[in-house]
Amino acid sequence: MKFLYRSFSKLLSRWNFYFIRSLLYDPKDRILLKENLDFVRHKILELCSAEIDKNKVSGDVAELGVYKGDFAKEINEVFPNKTFFLFDTFSGFDKKEMEKDQQQFGTNYQCFSDTTIELVRKRMKYPDLCVFKKGYFPDTTNDMDNKFCFVSIDVDLYDPIINGLNFFYPRLEKNGYIFVHDFNNKEFKGARTAVIEYCLQNNIGYVPIPDVSGSVIITK
Ligand SMILES: C[S@@+](CC[C@H](N)C(=O)[O-])C[C@H]1O[C@@H](n2cnc3c(N)ncnc32)[C@H](O)[C@@H]1O
Repeated sequence: MKFLYRSFSKLLSRWNFYFIRSLLYDPKDRILLKENLDFVRHKILELCSAEIDKNKVSGDVAELGVYKGDFAKEINEVFPNKTFFLFDTFSGFDKKEMEKDQQQFGTNYQCFSDTTIELVRKRMKYPDLCVFKKGYFPDTTNDMDNKFCFVSIDVDLYDPIINGLNFFYPRLEKNGYIFVHDFNNKEFKGARTAVIEYCLQNNIGYVPIPDVSGSVIITK
């Protein structure tokens, strides 16, 4: 059945018609295509990058939680003139952070260790713009005083999301955006808790979006 779905989806995509894969928390099985990208998230990224461009928002772009670079590839493509910082251990979750989330939120996580910087770099359209920050975040930010116009936080767990917001939000330019993945994903309850706590404490608004994993967008 999935094969039929996929073939039909591929066929339709030639004319720019798409089946959109369901939200993970939505039981309906709809399918997406174009290398499995998340159509809603991709389109919102395009729109946000266009706003950043139109408003001439300065600052760099970043992703915290890169893994094999699926979303990083899209970010790099829509920001052809921006330095792109890619933060990841490139060896999977920090053990302590993972165990803490498992205890607190009862979730089991994939390891994410099967990746390398070279693998990710090869997938980038503008590799020369990419600065890889390998290691435990936020230790990898010690030498940085950059400002940002766009940030994707996709680290699944409570601690690195809070650390990511603590680092990036004060450095976000006006009219810039932060996407946080998994806000509305029942599998990753720490993500939702981290965003709500940080936004409440700092009096920040956010917009949940209906992408595959239920991301949320924060702006300034
Ligand atoms: C869900 S994956 C990222 C998926 C990726 N954004 C994509 O488009 O496929 C989560 C990543 O966060 C990274 N990560 C989690 N906690 C981290 C931390 N404290 N420091 C650095 N990287 C971390 C993991 O190594 C993993 O690669």
